[in-house]
Amino acid sequence: HRPSPKPPLKILLCSPRGFCAGVVRAIDAVERALAKFGPPVYVRHEIVHNRYVVEALKAKGAIFVEELEEVPDTKAPVIFSAHGVAKSVSAEAAARNLLAIDATCPLVTKVHREAEIHHKRGRKVLLVGHSGHPEVVGTMGQLPPGAVELVESVQAVEELRLEDVADLAYVTQTTLSLDDSQEIVSALTRRFPQIVGPHKEDICYATTNRQAAVKQVAPQVDAVLVVGSPNSSNSQRLREVAERSGAPAQLVQGRSEIDWSMFAGIASLGISAGASAPEVLVEEIMEAFAERYEISVETVSAALEDVAFPLPKELRALA
Ligand code: F3S
Repeated sequence: HRPSPKPPLKILLCSPRGFCAGVVRAIDAVERALAKFGPPVYVRHEIVHNRYVVEALKAKGAIFVEELEEVPDTKAPVIFSAHGVAKSVSAEAAARNLLAIDATCPLVTKVHREAEIHHKRGRKVLLVGHSGHPEVVGTMGQLPPGAVELVESVQAVEELRLEDVADLAYVTQTTLSLDDSQEIVSALTRRFPQIVGPHKEDICYATTNRQAAVKQVAPQVDAVLVVGSPNSSNSQRLREVAERSGAPAQLVQGRSEIDWSMFAGIASLGISAGASAPEVLVEEIMEAFAERYEISVETVSAALEDVAFPLPKELRALA
């Protein structure tokens, strides 16, 4: 009796996928800090939104906290996550003489500076983004309370009640859905033709390219699997992009989370990974499929990336 042959499965691997330059830099910063100062190293918030990454760094001596008040008075460094922090957080670290190392992605810092410049020029700032995401909290926290207003949807644009619409500007979260944010930005410019904003929006190159690859792959496959954490904004957007392109899609943190019922009887599968998801998780998921299917793998590339950011200055000497 021979086992029945495995059914064939064509896997289309989205490229680019996984780590972006901001994530590589933030993880490097924690590792360099551990090497330079020795453990423990404190990290405010998940350095990047990925459980596997966080657990690996914990094992090396990183201690994760949500707020600085959880950090004792210490000489150990405190690293701010890639998502960025409000000005009050840096101020608190300085007041307590903590050795703060800022691993905020430079593309998030760029948005912080845009918001600040608008404010200095007397403009009311609207932030297009998702309430509660740490990047949104950090960007709003660049300006005094009330100076930034969050706008989450086209409907929210229609409902905006502003005292003064003469001097208005907008900035956006870096990891939004391109399609959604374009709709919101058009609603803003329709309602407030004088509004000032970035050339397009502040969505970063990594978000743009990962969404483009999923958009290209999703119509060609029976289902899409995105590797990433549920609290990862850009990973959630990849799943949405796949679904809107007509493919049932699942977001999983690793192979043990795969809901196989969605993949029963499929002949083709698209795979991508959010900007904070390490490639080893993609490999592990491909192995899980290879146990059930006779897989063939093809890469579909939507863009080439060669972006890299220098480490935070406190850590550069060791580079
Ligand atoms: Fe930065 Fe974009 Fe990655 S803002 S952290 S390059 S997803």
